[in-house]
Amino acid sequence: MNAHSDAHIQHLYVITGASKGMGLEMALQLLSPQHQVLCISRTESTELAQAAARAGAFLTQWCENLAEPEGVAHRLAAWLGTIDRAHLRSATLINNAGTLGAMAPLQTVAPATITQAIMVGLVAPLQLTASFLQATGDWSSVQNVLNISSGMSQRAMAGAALYGAGKAGMDQFSRCVALDEARRSPGARIVSLAPGVIDTDMQRELRNGDDALFPDKARYIQLQATGALTSPSEAARQVLAYLHHPEFGTESVVNIVQKRDLLT
Ligand SMILES: NC(=O)c1ccc[n+]([C@@H]2O[C@H](COP(=O)([O-])OP(=O)(O)OC[C@H]3O[C@@H](n4cnc5c(N)ncnc54)[C@H](OP(=O)(O)O)[C@@H]3O)[C@@H](O)[C@H]2O)c1
Repeated sequence: MNAHSDAHIQHLYVITGASKGMGLEMALQLLSPQHQVLCISRTESTELAQAAARAGAFLTQWCENLAEPEGVAHRLAAWLGTIDRAHLRSATLINNAGTLGAMAPLQTVAPATITQAIMVGLVAPLQLTASFLQATGDWSSVQNVLNISSGMSQRAMAGAALYGAGKAGMDQFSRCVALDEARRSPGARIVSLAPGVIDTDMQRELRNGDDALFPDKARYIQLQATGALTSPSEAARQVLAYLHHPEFGTESVVNIVQKRDLLT
């Protein structure tokens, strides 16, 4: 469906990495006739398209590679410029797409892998956030940016230099953008949120890592064995509950584990 002809869209969501894992579950949970949802990943989700048709929801999926984010950032700005915002109450960008790159000492990682992981994990979120804030800066709706970070942004681990650097950068740009936005009235709210440990392909990759290169691999095997992983749908529910909680935006870097009592 095309939202641009509909006068009753109240909430707009742009989500990256919605083809699988937690991003897919967030997109599924956001489908509603009152919402416009734009998903950006390299692959389109048939499950999502079918669910949108059943729900009578406004869904757009773009197949884009966020390792080459500049064109996507321009495309997003142009698309936001076409939105009919007469009835819009909020607009939200969720930078969720991520990649581990390689869990290994940095000197063993190929330059191209380093570039790819930082493009997807840090440069794309920076560029999409810039486009989003620029395009929506004079909208009367509430603007939100939700960056999906990780406990590894703050917790140092051998073999995690690449992934940790991208997520730490995400946390820090969120802190700085929050200060920029606090100088506008009303500015956008921005939060970098660690979502906990989730039973997705990314966890599988951690468990399948080489323990000679990534010594914490055993910890991830143990997390799964003890049932400590959150399901993607429950993780998505918690993240969206935090996004919609009145506290959202009061702290710029948050770990969901410390907020679970707010989200039941
Ligand atoms: N799983 C965990 O335990 C955990 C813990 C802490 C933080 N996180 C964070 O949570 C977020 C979601 O993770 P997840 O576990 O759901 O991951 P996942 O199942 O591996 O899904 C990753 C998503 O990112 C997209 N993506 C990856 N590379 C891309 C690229 N080059 N261009 C466009 N899209 C790309 C993938 O789509 P395509 O392949 O279709 O492009 C997919 O939709 C990530 O930011 C991750 O770092 C996860």
